Amino acid sequence: MAGIPAFFIDIHALCSRETLYYDLDMKEILFRNERISALGLGTIGFWSGANAGLEACIRRAMDCYGINVFDTAEMYGDGLCETALGRLIKDMDRSSLFLVDKILPENAIPGYFERSLDRSLERLGVDEIDLYLLHWREDAELSFVVDKMHEAMKQGKIRHWGVSNFDVNDLNDLFEAGGRDCFCNQIFCCLYERGAELDLIPFMKEHDILPMAYSSLGSGYAAHPDIRKNERIMKALKPHDVTPEAVMLRMNTELDMVSLFGTSSVNHLDDNLRKIDDEVYAKLKEIFDREYPQPPHPVPLAKI
Ligand SMILES: NC(=O)c1ccc[n+]([C@@H]2O[C@H](COP(=O)([O-])OP(=O)(O)OC[C@H]3O[C@@H](n4cnc5c(N)ncnc54)[C@H](OP(=O)(O)O)[C@@H]3O)[C@@H](O)[C@H]2O)c1
Repeated sequence: MAGIPAFFIDIHALCSRETLYYDLDMKEILFRNERISALGLGTIGFWSGANAGLEACIRRAMDCYGINVFDTAEMYGDGLCETALGRLIKDMDRSSLFLVDKILPENAIPGYFERSLDRSLERLGVDEIDLYLLHWREDAELSFVVDKMHEAMKQGKIRHWGVSNFDVNDLNDLFEAGGRDCFCNQIFCCLYERGAELDLIPFMKEHDILPMAYSSLGSGYAAHPDIRKNERIMKALKPHDVTPEAVMLRMNTELDMVSLFGTSSVNHLDDNLRKIDDEVYAKLKEIFDREYPQPPHPVPLAKI
């Protein structure tokens, strides 16, 4: 065993079928002939230097929980996270991964789009990205973006394309610009910001766009304090040995969307994915809904 890092041994020793949270029928979303796990892991942690922990979590998420969605972006550490993810997946079965990457709006312009995409492919060490997103709208020329996404699909550099941080009006503009085949819109949607449940998510479903939530645990959202400071919530959870994060993730997945979260701790990963008894979940959800209700009417999409 000498020379093998401790975290690597732990993953395999800890990995057992009993720890599976989702049964196999529930864990995947079938969308346009793709099988996508309902939960995915973000890679921002590579940027903050949590490499060993995040690597362990990604391996464990795949091996023990059947998670296949891993999200990155050229923006994260200026390519550092793409490179770290690429190193990790180098020897993995490519068909068992659904890789999501994003281009910055400032690079989605003539002369730069291809360069950005090619650099991302190179950093990831793959021939094709499964889902390539415009990171946010800003003043991107949508018809240009749509044309370039279609071209990249024809060239076999990406399998699907989409957008991120688009509200209903932005999606309508995207459709006008020729983007009706948009695969996915990645949005901030979590217990603290539930406006999208009222209008944007139903709109996406109606238009055959996969909703994907980012920061599903609300981290980095300065507008809201940490849920662990909510005494009523923590008191309700205590008898059930359930973490608030596990309930937050389950609430998101019950909206039939893919939910991305981040962790660099295998203990947190296991806590977050622990099975919650259905009756217990129903009781807890009632309390969570009371403490963090949907807004009474649609509100503009929040962004981090
Ligand atoms: N499209 C966009 O504009 C956009 C914007 C932001 C993020 N994203 C994507 O979404 C991914 C996930 O978002 P995120 O990482 O910002 O936020 P998140 O999932 O809301 O939260 C991650 C944080 O929660 C902590 N955490 C996780 N489980 C925990 C537990 N059981 N107990 C206590 N703390 C726990 C993690 O710390 P530990 O490491 O200690 O567990 C980490 O600090 C990103 O990596 C990125 O890929 C996309």
